Amino acid sequence: MEDAGLYAFGATALAFTVPTLDRRLALSTAKHRSLAGHARLAKRLAEQIPYWHYSPEHFFDSDGAPADVAAQRRAAMERLTQLYAQRFAKTVALTASVREHTPDLEFTSRYRVPFQYSAFVRSRLPFGAFLERSDGVRLIDLDGNTLYDLTGSYGVNVFGYDFYKACIADGATRARALGPVLGAYHPAVADNVARLCAISGLDAVSFHMSGTEAVMQAVRLARYHTGRTHLVRFAGAYHGWWEDVQPGVGNPVQPKETYTLAEMHERTLRVLARRRDIACVLVNPLQALHPNASAPGDSSLVDSSRRAHFDRNAYRQWLERLREVCDARGIVLIFDEVFVGFRLAPGGAQEYFGVRADLVTYGKTVAGGLPIGVVCGRKALMQRFREERPADICFARGTFNSHPYVMTSMQAFLERLDAPEVRALYEGLDATWDGRAAALNARLEGAGLPVRVANLSTIWTTCYTQPSRYNWMLQYYLRAEGLALSWVGTGRLIFSLNYTAADFADVADRFVAAARAMAADGWWWTDPKLTDRVIRRRVLREALHGRLREIVQRFARAHR
Ligand SMILES: Cc1ncc(COP(=O)(O)O)c(C=O)c1O
Repeated sequence: MEDAGLYAFGATALAFTVPTLDRRLALSTAKHRSLAGHARLAKRLAEQIPYWHYSPEHFFDSDGAPADVAAQRRAAMERLTQLYAQRFAKTVALTASVREHTPDLEFTSRYRVPFQYSAFVRSRLPFGAFLERSDGVRLIDLDGNTLYDLTGSYGVNVFGYDFYKACIADGATRARALGPVLGAYHPAVADNVARLCAISGLDAVSFHMSGTEAVMQAVRLARYHTGRTHLVRFAGAYHGWWEDVQPGVGNPVQPKETYTLAEMHERTLRVLARRRDIACVLVNPLQALHPNASAPGDSSLVDSSRRAHFDRNAYRQWLERLREVCDARGIVLIFDEVFVGFRLAPGGAQEYFGVRADLVTYGKTVAGGLPIGVVCGRKALMQRFREERPADICFARGTFNSHPYVMTSMQAFLERLDAPEVRALYEGLDATWDGRAAALNARLEGAGLPVRVANLSTIWTTCYTQPSRYNWMLQYYLRAEGLALSWVGTGRLIFSLNYTAADFADVADRFVAAARAMAADGWWWTDPKLTDRVIRRRVLREALHGRLREIVQRFARAHR
């Protein structure tokens, strides 16, 4: 009898634990196998990596290059150092004077290239952070140098800077009579709401100050209305710097209610179909260019394994399947279009991929060049209170939300979006940019250069076809040829839609010239034994040495 009781207890316990274990297992198998898919582990590893750097003697042969190649690289560095010192003197001097007091600047200048090389590169090729003006697709620095803009201002610049100057000027004129009155709305708000509803195909809109805030609010609404706790984000996807959407490296705490799952993966769909704690799925359609990989910055370019390839059909099908499972499970599907909105199509990623979301976030470009975050959604999902439970609200207010100058600049932007000349920019957009990427790749291949570009329309990534530790040097050669990149270097080039064929041809000439010069200077010396795996092993070995050295030093100090 006692045994029977024990069995019954065991069976009941099993009945409860097996599904739980099964769900846990399903969750871990739906993680992407890279470090981007294992946020906690990535953070722990990052905390263990020691600092080390290559001395000037070792800087040029860290890949095992022979002495003559190292000498060639050294001479090239001397030449570039002189060129930078002459050409960017004023811009660099002002940057140096504020760097120490500007942590943002200190951070970006330090993380342009892998940290082992950073100190030496900073001492030789300092980057100027200041600009004086923009002119069409060009930027002019304090020394009067003209550079083609491939930064895209983090994606804000879709239509060209003159377009935004006009939006802001127009907006300022419209807002002047009211001034910076907050709380009450400028009439432009009504127009913006109507236009954004039409663009998103959704029926309610809220305004915030940044893309990060818009994402925070979208997730908060999803949690409020579903009564569930967890958000799903995909490996590598950026959604701003708010805690819950940025688990792992970069965030001092580990969010507890975030699942990071593999994108474009069957097992992820299985998790969504079975778990009951998922409030929402966040999609950043920019990831279509490199699913499950983090934003491709040059500071992580330790070898040549960076890959990117955009398959519109495959990504559309993935979004359709996500839509289906979210519908079936009452999960809120959020498209975070802060980056890609208005860049791929006037109706954003929803239009481009032909899939509708429950909530859509916009930002960057949509206020005509002023700071902004927008959430569009179905009215029921956007409501911040419950009729039947008046005290149970979902709070979201911000002092500067719906700022008159931002709203009028947005109105100017949205009006212009309907202008025939702006609509014309979208015609054949992908064909144009795919053609430009293909033509540049053909030239690079023809010249025997180990560089290729991959693109999602006007968003480009540079990839490298042969193992090398010095690919990040390309950003310095590109600057010397008059091409301005953002601090992430060759990982992300962003073109505005107003690049003409002639502008692009000039950029392509300069790009090829930069790569040629870099090849001629020996940076892409290679050896059959130097594979990406060998490079990574070497870096790992150096890291372990560094760690060991730290441990020994600590031990010696403790026993002194
Ligand atoms: C997809 C996406 N979401 C959110 C953000 C955050 O926007 P913001 O920098 O305006 O806070 C970004 C910024 O790059 C983004 O690309």
